[in-house]
Amino acid sequence: MYTFGYHTLPLTEHDPKRFTRVTCAPTLAPYLKQELETLGFDCLSMDKTGVEIKATTREAIGLNLHLRTAFHVLQRFADINCRNADELYREAKRLPWDRVIDPAGYLSVTSNVNNPTITNSMFPNMRLKDAICDKLVEVAGKRPDAGSKQDAMVVHMHWRENKARIYLNLTGRKLSDRGYRKMPYKAPMRETIAAAVLMEMGYTGEKPLVVPMCGSGTLAIEAALMAKERAAGLLRSNYACNHFLGASESDWKQERADANKSVAKRDPAPIIASDIEEEAVEASRKNAITAGVDHLIEFHVCDFAETPLPDDKGDIILHGEYGVRLGDDSLIETYNRKGDFFKQQCAGWTGYVFTSGKPLIAAMKLKVSKRTPFTNAEIDCRLLKYELYEGSRTSKASDNLSDCQDTV
Ligand SMILES: C[S@@+](CC[C@H](N)C(=O)[O-])C[C@H]1O[C@@H](n2cnc3c(N)ncnc32)[C@H](O)[C@@H]1O
Repeated sequence: MYTFGYHTLPLTEHDPKRFTRVTCAPTLAPYLKQELETLGFDCLSMDKTGVEIKATTREAIGLNLHLRTAFHVLQRFADINCRNADELYREAKRLPWDRVIDPAGYLSVTSNVNNPTITNSMFPNMRLKDAICDKLVEVAGKRPDAGSKQDAMVVHMHWRENKARIYLNLTGRKLSDRGYRKMPYKAPMRETIAAAVLMEMGYTGEKPLVVPMCGSGTLAIEAALMAKERAAGLLRSNYACNHFLGASESDWKQERADANKSVAKRDPAPIIASDIEEEAVEASRKNAITAGVDHLIEFHVCDFAETPLPDDKGDIILHGEYGVRLGDDSLIETYNRKGDFFKQQCAGWTGYVFTSGKPLIAAMKLKVSKRTPFTNAEIDCRLLKYELYEGSRTSKASDNLSDCQDTV
């Protein structure tokens, strides 16, 4: 069994840097790395679904508040050698769970397992949960309630072959659950992807941002939060880090107070959001109110092509339906109109389309200047960038197909 200095909470003066893994959705790791570096962390490594850093527990807890593109902040508790579930139980039971798990609390166990002896993905969670609870009964005479809610203490295991790494999940439910989207409309973009898309666009709030087809308003709301430098995690109050044994309420309050101080004084350039459905605009407005940014967003009910554009040029992004998700394959005409709209009304702007599907991209009949892959709701998507100069329209759809060869 290998361990690396067991966690002890509360956050005493002795709070060493610990191995910390911050997870994210596939395709978001470069944006997460950028965020972590901006916050002053050196990244030890990056893979498809996460970035590894060293952080004190206090720093790791603060990341819950600051990161926009992450799912979970995990801190290593122990590494164990185990070839099968019996060995997992035996080795895990030797760990000092009584230092971190509140026997009067509620525990969830999650895992990502690739071990030849495991065929039922729930089984390792159950064995690890049994090891933790049995240890606590022995040491404290009491065990926590356990279940799958992930809204209190969460222990996560990453098990490959005969090595399992056990983490304390300091976040709980994914950070993409910011808490403002009380009213989701059709096919909303996940908040973390919206934040990464805006980072890819280089959005800072200095230039106007127009979001026709806004749905439940995620892109506009994330933009307003970013422009105001509002810590995205402040909107939510419940994090797993506050449920582990000895978590300090005053430290957490201090972290929140510090995060609150970072709010920018200046308001961003206009953010305009519109949708053809009144219900969508109503949902967007309510979500923006919950997020505390409704005063920064101008809403309109209209066709995307009638969205009022400010005189100053900026960025315009369309995230319309792309068939696969909404079961509608008669979208070619809409994409043709989107191309016309960009060409005829948005000269001097930078246009973006978030979509999936070669025929739809070709139907834009515009030259793509950059394409960036994203995975949204398990669908391969692209953020397409269009520099909208006069005369940028190609003559035929087929001219544009070469631009789409590596697209989905
Ligand atoms: C995929 S959803 C947008 C999701 C949004 N990005 C979010 O995160 O909630 C597409 C939206 O486009 C809107 N829409 C469809 N056709 C439109 C049109 N011609 N003009 C304006 N909006 C339209 C739909 O009402 C829907 O809300």
